[in-house]
Amino acid sequence: MQRILIDTDPGVDDALALLLALKSPELKIEAITTVSGNVHVEQATQNLLRILGLLDLSEFPMIAQGEAQPLVKLLVMAEHVHGEDGLGNISELSNHDGCPRYPLADCNISTISGVDLILELVNRYPNELVIVALGPLTNISRAIQKDPECMQQLQSIVLMGGVFREYGNVTTTAEFNVFVDPHAAHEVFSSGIPIHTVPLDVTHQVVLTGKRLNAETEEYDDRLSNFLRESTQTCMEFYRENVGFYGLHIHDALPIGILTHPHLFESVNAYVQVETEGNLTSGMTVADLRGVHSISKPNAQICLKVNADSFLKLFFQRILN
Ligand code: BDR
Ligand code: CA
Repeated sequence: MQRILIDTDPGVDDALALLLALKSPELKIEAITTVSGNVHVEQATQNLLRILGLLDLSEFPMIAQGEAQPLVKLLVMAEHVHGEDGLGNISELSNHDGCPRYPLADCNISTISGVDLILELVNRYPNELVIVALGPLTNISRAIQKDPECMQQLQSIVLMGGVFREYGNVTTTAEFNVFVDPHAAHEVFSSGIPIHTVPLDVTHQVVLTGKRLNAETEEYDDRLSNFLRESTQTCMEFYRENVGFYGLHIHDALPIGILTHPHLFESVNAYVQVETEGNLTSGMTVADLRGVHSISKPNAQICLKVNADSFLKLFFQRILN
């Protein structure tokens, strides 16, 4: 079993990724840390507890709240995509008896910070731990700043972030997670730690339509399936108005799939740089993918292709069972 720590800013697609990870027998989730991104970190931690409350877990991973602000920039959030609460506003819903429809899991939040929990776990499992980063890279870069030698003992970082051959989803040149904290992304890509990045180029290949979600879940009426239908609605409306279809991309679920079913994905080695300054290009990820030999040594694997049909099948098989 692969030991992982998930760093996340839930977020509708983060929720789907967390559920997939929690239902993947190949993974042992040692800890989950939260970070500001889609929503402020305090809301992100609440959302994490709500997501954990969907499953009957006998044991919870360790949980710690991480950084509230990016390294340098002012925080930009994505409530217009994910809803005011980051989960399609499901936290307001209650049952007929007045109880919350999606209660928070009754689990402890660590008294140490997200950054310190990351360092503690890397120390505890040298060369064994993979960090799966599903939000801005602020916690991870702070951990590198605090103890760079310790962080070299990570097995790798698998992250959702960047865009190379398409337009971005915040600006024409930048993907959200890198845009929010480009200085952190720059530090992570320059760290020498093995990195596998899953950019928009590949997450856009997996299209979850509202129709497919309804068809897959229609025979179920449990809390988890209701959550899948209800939490995704706001996001799907956003896609209908801004992207052109009623559905969503399940970006953050793909790094989980890379760990459990690597044969469904294709990646290349490349030298990735992050633009931190440009007026028009802040948060742009740059790599020469023309197939010629780059002068600089690769610092990351970039995933560029996924077998989308098989991945979506796997996603539903796991999540609904
Ligand atoms: C990324 O941005 C966030 O809104 C999503 O959760 C995902 O991590 C996609 O660009
Ligand atoms: Ca995310």
